[in-house]
Amino acid sequence: MSNNPHEKIEKNVGLMAVLIAVAVSFGGLAEIVPLMYQAEAIEPLPGVEPYPPLQLAGRDVYVREGCYNCHSQMVRTLRFETERYGHYSLAGESVYDRPFQWGSKRTGPDLARVGGRYPDDWHRVHLIDPRDVVPESNMPSYPWLAAARLDGDTVTRRMRALQTLGDPYTDEQIAGAAAEVADKTELDAVVAYLQGLGRHAPRGQ
Ligand code: HEC
Repeated sequence: MSNNPHEKIEKNVGLMAVLIAVAVSFGGLAEIVPLMYQAEAIEPLPGVEPYPPLQLAGRDVYVREGCYNCHSQMVRTLRFETERYGHYSLAGESVYDRPFQWGSKRTGPDLARVGGRYPDDWHRVHLIDPRDVVPESNMPSYPWLAAARLDGDTVTRRMRALQTLGDPYTDEQIAGAAAEVADKTELDAVVAYLQGLGRHAPRGQ
């Protein structure tokens, strides 16, 4: 048996495992801890606010329907991406996204900058049957969204939960939420959500 410490560690699986865990933890800490103290990683960009009630409801429908299975919401820092979609995504745009929708699966285009790209009516027709506006589309149809009414109580409770987690909703905003979504459908909500995406992103590339 040699006295070489490397050889000792390499021949002792338990010790090796502990030391690997320590080394990996240090690497993780060195990357993660500074982010927690960096203002730009946790501060919202100017204009970015917690989702208004209708958009919040739309975001929930987006998650429920699994739109993220085909659509990312993160423009990468690559030239061909910024030329197609606009400015690359910044952390300060997603501070009120719980859970965030960045993703990487792109059967369809990235949606981080889709707000304002089409009129509301285009989205309505497209969501009810994508092939009415994009004949070669393989995106599924979501006709039931137009028939489903929003429930004001659910939206109110969700806003209250987000307030508890630290989102700066005022009590008045929460009290008015049910009235704001009254008579609206899930389709109205998803369209409002899509139209809000990327509205406060920096312009240019
Ligand atoms: C099976 C994959 C798939 C799913 C699931 C899916 N999409 Fe799509 N989506 C696509 C494809 C492919 C396109 C491009 C063709 C088209 O415009 O229809 C697209 C296009 C879009 C566009 C237009 C984007 C642009 O910049 O032109 C929007 C908006 C959109 N989808 C929203 C949604 C929403 C909201 C949901 C969930 C309710 C959803 N998609 C679910 C595949 C999908």
